[in-house]
Amino acid sequence: MSLFDKFHAVVEARNALAGGGTAAIATPIESVQSATRGHINGREVLLAGTNNYLGLTFSEPVLDAAQAALYSLGAGTTGSRMANGSYDLHRSLEQELANAFGWPAAIVFSTGYQANLGALSTLAGRGEYLVLDSDSHASIYDAARLSQAETIRFRHNDPENLDRRLTRLGDQAKSALIVVEGLYSMLGDQPPLEAFVEIKNRHGAWLLVDEAHSFGVFGDRGLGLTEACGLLDEVDFIVGTFSKSLAGLGGFCVSPHPQLDAMRLASRPYIFTASPSPATIAGTRAALQQLLEGQALRKQLHRNFERFYAATKAMGYELGSETPGPVAAILMPDRGTALAHWHSLLESGVYANLMIPPATPSGLNLLRISLSAAHTDDDVDTMINALQELAPVAAYNQTA
Ligand SMILES: Cc1ncc(COP(=O)(O)O)c(C=O)c1O
Repeated sequence: MSLFDKFHAVVEARNALAGGGTAAIATPIESVQSATRGHINGREVLLAGTNNYLGLTFSEPVLDAAQAALYSLGAGTTGSRMANGSYDLHRSLEQELANAFGWPAAIVFSTGYQANLGALSTLAGRGEYLVLDSDSHASIYDAARLSQAETIRFRHNDPENLDRRLTRLGDQAKSALIVVEGLYSMLGDQPPLEAFVEIKNRHGAWLLVDEAHSFGVFGDRGLGLTEACGLLDEVDFIVGTFSKSLAGLGGFCVSPHPQLDAMRLASRPYIFTASPSPATIAGTRAALQQLLEGQALRKQLHRNFERFYAATKAMGYELGSETPGPVAAILMPDRGTALAHWHSLLESGVYANLMIPPATPSGLNLLRISLSAAHTDDDVDTMINALQELAPVAAYNQTA
């Protein structure tokens, strides 16, 4: 009997995916030259699977700010925000995030994962409720495990189902925190936010929107789907990450409720971890300025994903979302086809993501392509052409 026996099945599954040359899971990337180019297996590839939606990873102001902070403040803070790890930099970033939303309170966490863990598990405690969309990200489910609250799931993007769950709670719905995402990262679909807001108001519940994939992408100032829908006055909390549009590492929770600040005193994922490094925070601050003023970047990103969606649909591919967005999840009939197509794309010089269960909802096998503002028209054509070569196989599989 070994402690490692229980990993046998996942190791087997991983090994099965490792065949055919390059590993399709945790693919080794030898180097990265820009927001859109890297080297895999000694060959230059077009990066088409990142979350680098605004393409800011190599932005000069971001690199300059990070480098300056690295040399002036050192490599790490070596401590928690509650002890020696709260520099002016961290507080300034919190102030800038709060100002961006026009709200009084923001808290920075060390990762986006911890932002969900820290916010959800602390906001909803014993005797209260976490009401989660069934397609929620793992960090939301893990927060529910850490929380003492009762967890209730509702059907993905289904307002009627949410309404029924809250009705069953009766007056207790007033201590329920509903959690939805601004853009679901596997299928690339968006929630019916207006309907959810109407339901939460009717039941007197609370609403948190995780804008991890929508921050920087939607809304005039890039604040996310909530801004784009004109609903900033209607939600209670927004969670976001620095690791996607902001091209760094870390996360945040921002709120119109000034009492949010008290959460710092009780949130274990906030307290019992080191604060983000000075370089990380300084780079994020520079990226945030570009995000807020990034109408041109957003315009290019939207142009890219609208063109890509139109082309892939015209080729007969089925996508995880009807509405175009930065995540294009191409549905594959089975794991073998998905893997073969992933390899074919790489052969054509396009590095996409292979997404398979348990990471995906409903047991789906996906080729997940994500668009960036840094992709040129030619880059988007390269992706479209690579998919064009696979199209007959995909069409065959759809009608088979
Ligand atoms: C919806 C959602 N929330 C939170 C996170 C966690 O963010 P991070 O990777 O920055 O820790 C992710 C990451 O993919 C996500 O998709």
